[in-house]
Amino acid sequence: MSASHRAVAIDGPAASGKSTVAKCLAARLGLIMVNSGAMYRAVTWQILQDGILPSDQDAVIQAFERMKIICGVEDGVSTISVNGRMLSSELRTPAVNENVSTLASFSKLREGLVAMQRAYLESDDVVMEGRDIGSVVFPETPFKIYIDASEEVRAARRSKDGEADVVAERDAQDSQREASPLKISEGAIVIDSSSLTIDQTVLAAQEALIELGWED
Ligand code: CDP
Repeated sequence: MSASHRAVAIDGPAASGKSTVAKCLAARLGLIMVNSGAMYRAVTWQILQDGILPSDQDAVIQAFERMKIICGVEDGVSTISVNGRMLSSELRTPAVNENVSTLASFSKLREGLVAMQRAYLESDDVVMEGRDIGSVVFPETPFKIYIDASEEVRAARRSKDGEADVVAERDAQDSQREASPLKISEGAIVIDSSSLTIDQTVLAAQEALIELGWED
């Protein structure tokens, strides 16, 4: 970890509320919010565009190595473009939801994206959310939070957002894969957001950070 910049790691399963909490926390604390899942989604979107079979690991990695991926920041939030196209709503299509966890199980792909995630810390303090931020991307940060919610609540949140998502399948794949599986990292404070409002969850996360030694 960079000596001068701090990383807040927020991990948790699909639709647990990580992104919303990370965004609010980052705004309150004046940090950059980085959505690491968007990177896995961007590669998945491009692979599907190229007509490559997501389960064909060799073809995926070859295509990934040729992709021109640019990670940036706009209004304090991470952005991503692939081959010159800035991606946003494309990242949340049902096809991307269905295939992203397959690509995320390829360790070569993870290595490449983890390097891009770590690069954010070279210039800024960040709140980064994902599955392996506390365990793999920034294992040395003391600021680790794991946000959970019951399966029913998470599925209901996604359908309320009008998004067709395979939450249970992605969770199973993300937790069972060999490469950097989703897990509670050592030292992380766990927040169950099932019966909390967004404000209550953000407050709980702020309190957790203070408990972990965060100082403004
Ligand atoms: O927001 P949501 O919980 O739906 O997922 P996301 O954060 O956008 O991540 C999409 C997928 O990318 C996850 O289901 C994982 O398969 C993968 N991912 C990962 O493996 N590691 C990360 N640090 C972030 C996402």
